[in-house]
Amino acid sequence: MSIQFHQTTKTFHLYNDNISYIMSVLENGHLGQLYYGKKIRDKEDFSYLVEKVPRPMASYVYSGDRTFSLEHIKQEYPVYGSTDYRHPAVEILQENGSRIMDFQYVSHTITGGKPELPGLPATYTESDDEAETLCITLKDVVTDIRLELLYTIFATGGIIARSARFTNDGEKAVHILNAMSLCLDLPDHDYVWMQLSGAWARERHIKNRILEPGIVAIDSMRGHSSHEHNPFMVLKRPSATEHQGPVIGFSLIYSGNYRIQAEVDTHDTTRVTVGINPTGFDWKLDCSETFQTPEAVMVYSEEGLNGMSQTFHNLYRSRLARGYWRDRPRPILNNNWEATYFDFTEDRLVEIASKAKECGVELFVLDDGWFGERSDDRSGLGDWFANTDRLPKGIPGLADRIEALGMKFGLWFEPEMVNKNSDLYRAHPDWILMTPERHISHGRHQYVLDFSRPEVVDCIYGMMKTILSEAKISYIKWDMNRSITECYSATLPSDRQGEVFHRFILGVYDLYDRLTKAFPHVLFESCASGGGRFDPGLLYYAPQGWASDDSDAIERLKIQYGTSMCYPISCIGSHVSVAPNHQVFRNTPLHTRANVAYFGTFGYELDLNKLSDEEIEEVKEQIVFMKEYRKILQFGTFYRLKSPFEGNETVWMVVSEDQKTALVGYYRVLNVVNAPYTRVQLQGLNPDLVYENLENGTEHYGDELMNLGLLTSDASCGEVVGDAKPCTDFDSRIYVLKAKEI
Ligand code: DGJ
Repeated sequence: MSIQFHQTTKTFHLYNDNISYIMSVLENGHLGQLYYGKKIRDKEDFSYLVEKVPRPMASYVYSGDRTFSLEHIKQEYPVYGSTDYRHPAVEILQENGSRIMDFQYVSHTITGGKPELPGLPATYTESDDEAETLCITLKDVVTDIRLELLYTIFATGGIIARSARFTNDGEKAVHILNAMSLCLDLPDHDYVWMQLSGAWARERHIKNRILEPGIVAIDSMRGHSSHEHNPFMVLKRPSATEHQGPVIGFSLIYSGNYRIQAEVDTHDTTRVTVGINPTGFDWKLDCSETFQTPEAVMVYSEEGLNGMSQTFHNLYRSRLARGYWRDRPRPILNNNWEATYFDFTEDRLVEIASKAKECGVELFVLDDGWFGERSDDRSGLGDWFANTDRLPKGIPGLADRIEALGMKFGLWFEPEMVNKNSDLYRAHPDWILMTPERHISHGRHQYVLDFSRPEVVDCIYGMMKTILSEAKISYIKWDMNRSITECYSATLPSDRQGEVFHRFILGVYDLYDRLTKAFPHVLFESCASGGGRFDPGLLYYAPQGWASDDSDAIERLKIQYGTSMCYPISCIGSHVSVAPNHQVFRNTPLHTRANVAYFGTFGYELDLNKLSDEEIEEVKEQIVFMKEYRKILQFGTFYRLKSPFEGNETVWMVVSEDQKTALVGYYRVLNVVNAPYTRVQLQGLNPDLVYENLENGTEHYGDELMNLGLLTSDASCGEVVGDAKPCTDFDSRIYVLKAKEI
């Protein structure tokens, strides 16, 4: 890995064994983008890549010259209004009403490692040789606004992490109306755009479309990254597949309003921008103040979507997630939500936990309903003290009883919210986000606390700290169940109201930061009505997230397959729930529910007392299995093999780091009669090792399994004869492949 600066041509070349990222200082002092792709040899001069031709209707920078038009030059951080008519990376409103800016190169630094972004989640390094960071300083001389563009290249993988920082060295305040984290101009538009979209209970489904001239975008204006569109996008060459071909993934490490956009112009170039959503954003930058954008990460892969995903997985699992739980297999938990909803007593909880303990579960989680006057979703949020009608000895009493069973205890919070029927609201009715003289809308009967105000965050921190200090709590599920409306903060002046959405998220990060520092051994799981804030920003604080409120195994195939595009398996909260399922009322076999949930953090979302003896025996076996293989399942190399979006079968697998163990998850939605014989080509095995298939005792070399394939045919082929177990709808199996000692 290296970052080279060629003085004579003012060219920057960031490269490692996988990629090159090249840019240069243009003749007007702006930064030009020259190349991002597979590694090419370094050299002094790539200036031939700056495209300059006279074109009708273009506007030109220099008088007497009909070539230098920013409209036709690929740039790093373009502005609007000075010959470029595409959407810009930055827009700054000045006192005189102008938005024209002219950021010119001043200097740069190259340092080992990667600096932290104050107050914001970001990827990090543990030693300086893991990455190098280039900081390019540019200046607009009229306003004296200093712009620092940060680029980090990691030693391995096709990763470039980017962000921008603005400092007002001038004497007049300005308003930043748009400040993208990343802008990438690509020389053509021969790409398929892929996004992860959906809604509550069907998050992160894969959607594709061909890029054509015009604008394509996904975004959120809800105050959280949203169920609707994940802050992640891929541009893949039409010929690229799961296993080969060039793809570029874009991911924003942020949990609030964002926009990811691609603009294809009439000369077929593609401009990608990723950052905070400019809609509603207006950040006043006073003299001497600095504004730091969130970080965006780009991953270039020649190994198709799987190659890109594995790079994101490694980076986000080990250099975004942090803390005690980062590298540790996650406890198998039993959450009481779908078992009881709000209808529980302490004894009933202990009954559920006792059965879970008997089955081998390690952690019991008490979900919503334990605090204040919370008997349904109309009251109690904000009163973070135990309801002693339900829990006579409070949280410490229940936690002690759970610990006495030999289990760990976890607790649910929804820190950012308040019900009007709560002591907190009665004491501080002005603490919610609301616009003066306007109607205030609710979501799930609740209101959003103004986390842009430090005293509000302090108060919630104080309450949570007390509960966490008093009781033996090993896990927190941090929920968030509504989007923001009438966004306005009572304490900010009118010319800073455009900052509230972002300041709210900074408040959320601050609370996470303080709690995770004060309680470093507590495992945090993020949640937002399932996957409404399943984003890299929260992964920095909470190493796992509840992927969806949909716990149906068949629905989960699509949700988890889509999620795996960017997010590591170790962070995907996935549980076994009852049949019929509570979201889609579908009956699926117990083994299929587990076979899907194994590829995640694993747990149970039901009252095990309600299962038959036979089912309990099966659950016990599932837990033994998960304990044996969870390290590989959660931290191995994950491959998607067959997509639930393309057919009746889904297949995925994980391979251990030493390539000696692999687990293949095979799922078939509907049974097939007189089916064809089927086989699946595996990935990531050692071609020279012989693997025993523990499902049927057969033995095959890795090259056979990868090239010829693993036979997956079953009793659905032909007629069911003899004592063969007939197949059913929603069937599945896990093939465990173990390398034989040579
Ligand atoms: C939404 C979450 O996604 C559920 O798992 C559960 O915690 C409920 N909220 C509780 O209100």
